[in-house]
Amino acid sequence: MIKAPLFDAIEKYAASRPVPFHMPGHKMGKGLPEAFCSGMAKYDVTEIPGTDNLHFPEDAILMAQDMAAEAFGADKTFFLVNGSTCGVLAAMRTVCRPGDRLIIGRDCHRSVYNGISMWGIDPVFINPAYNPEFGISSITEPSVVEKALTDYPDAKGVLITSPNYYGICSDISKISKLVHDYGKILIVDEAHGAHLRFNRKLPLCSMDQGADISIQSAHKTLPALTPGAFIHIKSKSVDIDKLQRNLRMLQTTSPSYLVMCSLDIARAIMQEKGESLLDDLLDSIYNFRKQIAGINCISVLTGDSLQKGSHDPTRIVIGMGCKRGFETEKLLREKFNIQVEMSDMNNIVCIATVSDNNEDLSKLACGIRQVAESFQAEESLRFKVPSRIPDTPERAIGMREAEDLPQRKVPIRNANGCIASDYLTPYPPGIPVIIPGEVYTDEIIGYVLGIVDAGGKVNGIYGKQLVNVVG
Ligand SMILES: Cc1ncc(COP(=O)(O)O)c(C=O)c1O
Repeated sequence: MIKAPLFDAIEKYAASRPVPFHMPGHKMGKGLPEAFCSGMAKYDVTEIPGTDNLHFPEDAILMAQDMAAEAFGADKTFFLVNGSTCGVLAAMRTVCRPGDRLIIGRDCHRSVYNGISMWGIDPVFINPAYNPEFGISSITEPSVVEKALTDYPDAKGVLITSPNYYGICSDISKISKLVHDYGKILIVDEAHGAHLRFNRKLPLCSMDQGADISIQSAHKTLPALTPGAFIHIKSKSVDIDKLQRNLRMLQTTSPSYLVMCSLDIARAIMQEKGESLLDDLLDSIYNFRKQIAGINCISVLTGDSLQKGSHDPTRIVIGMGCKRGFETEKLLREKFNIQVEMSDMNNIVCIATVSDNNEDLSKLACGIRQVAESFQAEESLRFKVPSRIPDTPERAIGMREAEDLPQRKVPIRNANGCIASDYLTPYPPGIPVIIPGEVYTDEIIGYVLGIVDAGGKVNGIYGKQLVNVVG
């Protein structure tokens, strides 16, 4: 027998026949055509006559990308074989030159921070709203975008995330109108929203709301392989040739044909029967909600829980009570063989896609009911972070410089005035309070220690409350 520990681990997981409420959205092959799954290795080819070339497409790939553009409401779509991550990086490099300003939602994904560092962009951060009921970050308010546009008239554009990890969608129509009124470009990191365009009951996708560029991880919410993704463009202001050159620079010269085929298949499935598949999924989700209605001490994130913005119901977010998110994830896995996408202090997050069925959702409802009952009627308060997230601190040096300079560790209590060389991200709400190049303040230190003292989790704190600083 060959020894292949990773393969063994995955085989073991698959053999346990889990109920997967995590990505990828094909749910362990359930949502993909049988012929594709059984022929996997056969379809893993390279650039040979007839298979076209991702970097200079003229034939099958060009046709598949054009069909995707039509299906997703874009002028032009490119396949991404390295996730939304490379789409985000390419979009940022297309819109900004070194030193240019970009208005960026502070709740953005790590790839955006990497783009700031790699491309030498001068970020103007805007904070999203905070949802105190679930202890999570919420929408980006159009008024906050407008203020940044007024304060920084030289910014090249705006980059925001919608939906966020919890399925909360900002009002992209209003935001795109504002951004365009100021003559700028709107990039939407829509990594979690590739399915939105295919059912009228779901929030509108960003291409239909005026975004110039949208980046979508097909592998998260569609039946596509990891890390298949799309970048869509619908804009007269975006230099598409430049974007394609940037993609050539960022994507591998050996793109996976399996991943590209799965993007083509996912588009075809959604275009042909997405509306009815999503109707069925939404019925199952409403059924699931009925099954968990009335359970003490839990709450379900819905559009009604939001003051503004809307919520994608396929992103199932259940508030389990103070500090019970992680425990619920563990119990669901160990006792019910259900694996959720993620958990935080209060909540579990499940990704439901067209590859799931009523039975999967009923199993989830049953597991949640039993876990919640095992918690009994103990108090159900949420772990609350202070509602005021600290202001973005002053920047002393560029991100890249802070990452490259020598570093040392200091106790966070003594960090006031030090320049951060690392990110510090409390969960919840998952928004970095400081990033490389910014200066520690007493306000930030107090906020972070408050979360740590209450038992919260902060990425970027090591050992006995040490943080990385420059020097
Ligand atoms: C908001 C957001 N943007 C971008 C990404 C990166 O996507 P990918 O994993 O497809 O590269 C993620 C990944 O989780 C994400 O959550």
